[in-house]
Amino acid sequence: MKVLLVYAHPERTSVTHHLVELAAETLTARGHEIMRSDLYGMGWKAVFDGRDFPQRADPNRLSLIEESGHAFANGCQTRDVEEEQRKLLAADAVILLFPLWWYSMPAIMKGWVDRVWAYGLAYGYQGAGNAHRYGEGGFAGKRALLAVSVGGPEQDYSPRGINGPLEQLLFPITHGTLFFPGMQVLPTFAVYGAATIGAQGVAEAAAAWRGRVQRLFDDEPIAFRPQNGGSYPDRHVLADHVARGQTGLMAHVAGAVMLDGHNDSFPAAFVEPCYEDG
Ligand SMILES: Cc1cc2nc3c(=O)[nH]c(=O)nc-3n(C[C@H](O)[C@H](O)[C@H](O)COP(=O)(O)O)c2cc1C
Repeated sequence: MKVLLVYAHPERTSVTHHLVELAAETLTARGHEIMRSDLYGMGWKAVFDGRDFPQRADPNRLSLIEESGHAFANGCQTRDVEEEQRKLLAADAVILLFPLWWYSMPAIMKGWVDRVWAYGLAYGYQGAGNAHRYGEGGFAGKRALLAVSVGGPEQDYSPRGINGPLEQLLFPITHGTLFFPGMQVLPTFAVYGAATIGAQGVAEAAAAWRGRVQRLFDDEPIAFRPQNGGSYPDRHVLADHVARGQTGLMAHVAGAVMLDGHNDSFPAAFVEPCYEDG
């Protein structure tokens, strides 16, 4: 299988880079082929702007969606974007590795998504508007996994923790960015307390991460509900009989059992402790 590692950290001794190298080693040892996108190392252009469209469809007004669709369809995207799409389309799985910065990915990685997720490919698939999204689309058949180094302690991200559960904080990435264009997304792997982690913590995290990487093609993805699987008859809103009475993010995950009767908390099963498999 081919696996693309996309990572965003400017420091080689970071936990993030450590996870990257462990993943590369583990996958290679199992006979998989790896591809890399080291966003800081590549000097990736993070901002999405007019320079992304050297041959404009409309020189008078910059409509990013229109220009994205035009450039993708006519082969006039920038070389760096084309190269990332080539790697993505070749990949059977994509792992995004990053430190949690303000409860999300670093800007350079967000800019990778903004620029590489072209109209006609990741959204507006095949020029059909929103006909194919959430479980279908240009990246269908691929697996995706987030590996996140988190400064704060695990309890801050627990089901009732002060920051909110990590898997809910990352929902815009897992559901909105990866599942939207069709990828099957695995539960997030997190290393908590990463800013002050010691040798033992690193060893525990490494063991757990190796296990997750080995099971990349076996683990069950998060059961996000597909748009066209019957749960959303009008393609917009859940049918009344699905997740009856539930609102919020969890309503879009099938079979999610509420731990405390509250209707928008992720079950503990989605909050992966880093030392789970020791
Ligand atoms: C700009 C910035 C924002 C951060 N935001 C968060 C945050 O929202 N939550 C958190 O727990 N830690 C936060 N941290 C701490 C990082 O997550 C932590 O330093 C990092 O995960 C350590 O791993 P690394 O060795 O891969 O950098 C932030 C750090 C920086 C520099």
